[in-house]
Amino acid sequence: MAQVHVISHPLVQHKLTLMRNKQVSTNNFRRLLRELASLMAYEVTRDMPTQLVSVETPLEITQGQVMDGKKLVFASILRAGTGLLDGMLDVVPGARVGHVGLYRDPKTLTAVEYYFKMPQDMQDRDCVVVDPMLATGNSAIAAMDRIKETRPKSLKFVCLVACPEGVAALQGAHPDVPIYTAAVDRQLNDHGYIMPGLGDAGDRIFGTK
Ligand code: URA
Repeated sequence: MAQVHVISHPLVQHKLTLMRNKQVSTNNFRRLLRELASLMAYEVTRDMPTQLVSVETPLEITQGQVMDGKKLVFASILRAGTGLLDGMLDVVPGARVGHVGLYRDPKTLTAVEYYFKMPQDMQDRDCVVVDPMLATGNSAIAAMDRIKETRPKSLKFVCLVACPEGVAALQGAHPDVPIYTAAVDRQLNDHGYIMPGLGDAGDRIFGTK
């Protein structure tokens, strides 16, 4: 079973706590999410391969490591994934971007696909799927099912807040996919919201409520 990485860095935890506050404005919520995503990108890319290259400093030629950002794909689960995507691209600007459009049927809470677009040659690329909330796990599972059809070199899932139910569901369906999160909260409520959570991430990012 792949690991669940809870990113306990004080900066990550500090920003998450600010975001949970219902008084935080849309503007600040979005900014904090972007900053948090950049911090989480450090953790998620920790084991990415590097290549040794020559570089000429003002004093002499030396060797240094570089990452091939283009080999990385950030796959955003629409629409809330967009909030995490921007911060990840801030630190890996060369990464390619995929989109999976899923909405949650309000009655059944199942994921329904309306859009799917990934870069070509996925077999040569490491893919990081982003969505702020791992709630029922239905969207994440549906996204992984679909992305696996493109045969990526590797797959990871990044969220801001998870819950035990979502972690169990995603691990059950995709035991090979490691999960990176800033928190695993107490539980899922009857309406599919994470408790204590931070509310509807999409609405808070886009100011739609
Ligand atoms: N989606 C959200 O935006 N928030 C939750 O708590 C659960 C799912």
